[in-house]
Amino acid sequence: MSLASVVPPVIMWTDKAPLIDETNGIAPDIQPGPIMNQKRTEIDINSVPDHVAIIMDGNGRWAQARGLDRSEGHVEGVNTVRRITEAASEAGVKYLTLYAFSTENWNRPQAEVDALMHLIGIAIERETPDLIRNNVRLAMIGDVERMPSEALNRLRGCIAQTAHCNGLTLNLALSYSSRWEIADAARRIAEDVKAGHLASGDIDEDTVGRYLTTASMPDPDLLIRTGGDMRVSNFLLWQIAYAEIYVTPVFWPDFTKDNFREAISGFRKRERRFGLTGEQVRQKTREQ
Ligand code: FPP
Repeated sequence: MSLASVVPPVIMWTDKAPLIDETNGIAPDIQPGPIMNQKRTEIDINSVPDHVAIIMDGNGRWAQARGLDRSEGHVEGVNTVRRITEAASEAGVKYLTLYAFSTENWNRPQAEVDALMHLIGIAIERETPDLIRNNVRLAMIGDVERMPSEALNRLRGCIAQTAHCNGLTLNLALSYSSRWEIADAARRIAEDVKAGHLASGDIDEDTVGRYLTTASMPDPDLLIRTGGDMRVSNFLLWQIAYAEIYVTPVFWPDFTKDNFREAISGFRKRERRFGLTGEQVRQKTREQ
């Protein structure tokens, strides 16, 4: 397995055999009936994910490894954003959410924050005609009022100009963190209860979902993290409850369309059980 290939989701070992198959995350002793005799790796169980979320990590390390300033890594990272947006659109993904700037990133050195904000604004303005040509709609989630007006205005301009596009939705998480989002949702739910718009007894998971920034989107099916770290870093914590996770050591500036397609095909071979047993899932599949 090359460095650029999948880091399997979870590999649990017993002293006899791996419980989880390295190639697709499925326990080898519970292969689905109808495909029993076929090679597992040739089979797609799932369709293309509707929603892919990506933690774009490794820009700084990519730059430092080349003796460059960290911001050079972000510049190169923008090229990857363009490439992967194209790849997602080509693959038939409907929503691509990119973690472009976290709430915690505000604490980085001011020069890096300023460079990133400037870069995001410039890149979005430059890419708007191509987004329109490719029928890509821009959206953003996060505490964006904290952003400098120059970048925010450019983002809002692009959102307005691409509002009619109905292909891929490119959703940028900016000044975003899950804990901020969940606290914000809780506050607005409390306000609506106080105002009599909502009965506290009616609050369920769907209600909470409607108050999150992603209310208009399906939950991510696949979460990709580049740069090799095995953590979720305060990203879409509620929404990724049942997302499949793919971590690759490849730094974001080096992440290719082929790497993306590899993540998608890995996803398609996973058995998503949503808390059911493997047998229940296979039964449901046979019934469909
Ligand atoms: C993480 O790498 C990356 C970021 C904090 C910023 C990512 C932003 C971009 C690629 C620009 C996005 C632009 C548009 C138009 C969406 P890191 O700096 O934490 O890398 P490290 O882990 O190697 O230090």
